[in-house]
Amino acid sequence: MLRGGMITYFDGNFVDDAEATVSVRSRALNYGLGCFGGVRGYLADDGKQVLVFRLDAHVKRLSESAKVLYLRMPGSLPEIGELHLELLRRNDVHYDVYMRPLLLHNSNAMAPILDENTTSFTIFCLPLKRYIDKDSIDVCISSWRRVADNAIPARTKPTGAYLNSALARREAFDGGFDEAILLTDSGKVSEGSAEHVFMVRRGTLVSPPSTQDNLDGITRRSLIEMAADLGIPFAEREIGRTELYVTDELFLCGTGAQITPVKSVDHRTVGDGDIGPVTRKLQQYFDDVVHGRVAKRKAWLFPVWG
Ligand SMILES: Cc1ncc(COP(=O)(O)O)c(C=O)c1O
Repeated sequence: MLRGGMITYFDGNFVDDAEATVSVRSRALNYGLGCFGGVRGYLADDGKQVLVFRLDAHVKRLSESAKVLYLRMPGSLPEIGELHLELLRRNDVHYDVYMRPLLLHNSNAMAPILDENTTSFTIFCLPLKRYIDKDSIDVCISSWRRVADNAIPARTKPTGAYLNSALARREAFDGGFDEAILLTDSGKVSEGSAEHVFMVRRGTLVSPPSTQDNLDGITRRSLIEMAADLGIPFAEREIGRTELYVTDELFLCGTGAQITPVKSVDHRTVGDGDIGPVTRKLQQYFDDVVHGRVAKRKAWLFPVWG
């Protein structure tokens, strides 16, 4: 029987969160072998329905990560998508929610081996309003370089690579900043510790391509399409470090961060320090899209109820 905690999906069953555990001997834990996703559901304006944002794209990305990392998806893409929705129903979710699907190399054998036959699959969920709880943030350029896709494939959201994110975040917090932006080994802007980077320079929205040792971001891809809906010019290109010091607007984005404006980089004020007009426009449109107020983008939303 459930003991009043959240319900979690774990290897074929919906169980009490406390029962969804792995051994301390697991390779997944000892070597960081696995990958994960991060999916959001938004409470709709009626106060009951929950709309999961781009569930199909998240499941597809998870399957691509699995392919790169020799993990096995335990079902077809629609089946895995349905498990996410069922998890929210089992938890009677009527609030803003975050889901974390996790594929692990869950064997106790000693050695960092990637073997698809030992895959464990779990999805847990939690209420989540804001991942970064500030209207705008101060960031630094990290002294840590983003882990190269050729070393640990950043595009796959690998569990082990988050040590890189954690080091950058810790350094940022210790320096009094809210977040870090990491550069590639060749000194170009890669991404934040868990967010993509967009700047606005001379009226054009700019973001580095998803080949800059960064995650293949779903919010990023969505924002590029949203910019087109709004008639905002967009360019995908490399960004140099000091461009961030002189840009007119800057924001981070991601499933967790949504659109988080940046007000300074390495103590240089971005623009005049206020949230810029392009960022505001995108924030409003993003909010409308994820809450189902934009007919053209309803196909991005997967309703949990009814
Ligand atoms: C390293 C990293 N970059 C970027 C993002 C944003 O990607 P997405 O929009 O797909 O959530 C995330 C996760 O949310 C992340 O972990």
